[in-house]
Amino acid sequence: MKYFETKNNTLIIGQVDILTLVKQYGTPLYVYDLEIIKQQYQALKTAIPESVNIFYAIKANPNPSICQFMHSLGMGAEVASAGELYVALKTGFAGKSIIYNGPGKTDEDIEYAIQNKVHIINIESLDELHRLNTIAEQQQRLVKICVRINPILSITQAKMQTGGGSQKLGVDEEQIETIIKTAVQLDWIRLLGIHIYIGSQILDEKLLLKSIENTLFIAKRLANEFDLPMRCINFGGGLGVPYEDSEPKFNVKQFGKGLAYVIEKVAQLFDLSKTQFILEPGRFLVSDAGIFLTKVINVKHSREKQYAIIDGGINHAFLPIRMNKKYATVIANKMDLPANHSITVGGPLCTSMDVFSNEVQLPEVEAGDIIGIFNSGAYGFSASLLYFLSAPMPAEVIIHNGKHFLARSRGKKEDFLLNTITNDNNYKDFI
Ligand SMILES: Cc1ncc(COP(=O)(O)O)c(C=O)c1O
Repeated sequence: MKYFETKNNTLIIGQVDILTLVKQYGTPLYVYDLEIIKQQYQALKTAIPESVNIFYAIKANPNPSICQFMHSLGMGAEVASAGELYVALKTGFAGKSIIYNGPGKTDEDIEYAIQNKVHIINIESLDELHRLNTIAEQQQRLVKICVRINPILSITQAKMQTGGGSQKLGVDEEQIETIIKTAVQLDWIRLLGIHIYIGSQILDEKLLLKSIENTLFIAKRLANEFDLPMRCINFGGGLGVPYEDSEPKFNVKQFGKGLAYVIEKVAQLFDLSKTQFILEPGRFLVSDAGIFLTKVINVKHSREKQYAIIDGGINHAFLPIRMNKKYATVIANKMDLPANHSITVGGPLCTSMDVFSNEVQLPEVEAGDIIGIFNSGAYGFSASLLYFLSAPMPAEVIIHNGKHFLARSRGKKEDFLLNTITNDNNYKDFI
């Protein structure tokens, strides 16, 4: 809630009152305030050393208006599918400011990435390396790569671990030598360095720094052993945001200082003067900037509990379930009333999984109230089960300097027949 205000009992987002937004755009609705994204970006950018470049992880929020804004702030883009690459290219990122990740790149994905001259493709297996070389040869284009490593060091505290232990992601550190020896011999591959991303939603900056230090030491070892110049060292994303009041805030200033310190320390041991360092944050940049607004359809009791049934479900906002957290939830049109009722907020889907907030303290709730769920800017729309139970997709609205616009229009029930055989009626032949 730190970025939001209230006025006359109503929640205000980026100088705009949410009742205006709901009236104009309907519910369920995602609203993103670009000013908050800018503040998060600037906090990070000013804290970290200049030698570290930020590439926005598009998967956190691929809305094209958000991507365009990220580009205007001067970031690169991290993509993990041909779809994300397409969005990145369409929203202003040149190939040279895009990094391509992912453990399951198809030949078509690789062709598309090479055709668009992406800056770096991070490879995640020996097989992928060979396929990349073959396709690069067919296209007669030298391809710059980093090897994504699954490190031996396991930072087990990471909430969503993607490095350490057994992983489908990256190449185990123990197998890295084979990959490097192969990569340096392949004609169409130029090995620039390494990439390690240990996991998402890390709130303790010391943990992330420990992993980054480990990455730098792995880079040093490989540089010495294979006489590699190490032109790029990618630390991945993972900077977390608190979802509950009890959670600590990621200390971005301490993180920046620590990052400068570890880079400086390792730079005494081998030449890092020409190295590009990369961070790929997603959640940290966009989570706080988004709120999910829904309308209460019914209020009901079941045994000892009171329920508010809202018009948006986990098909629109799956993350609260995935994170298993009590998201900050408010009645956005009753901000000044005492939160003295225990309410369970559930969506309209006919599954008991569709519950956002179990027994949260809210003011008395009535049909027509607007429920706001904070921290919805990252992995909200993009990480939801949007087709589950065939409810139209929510709309997305952007606020910028007190003005607002529809950044993605609401879905329609007709969308659920798109790309099905009923489109051209030929299903009749089969029934
Ligand atoms: C390779 C890679 N980089 C960056 C990110 C962004 O992570 P976060 O949103 O935790 O910063 C992800 C998220 O899954 C990822 O897979």
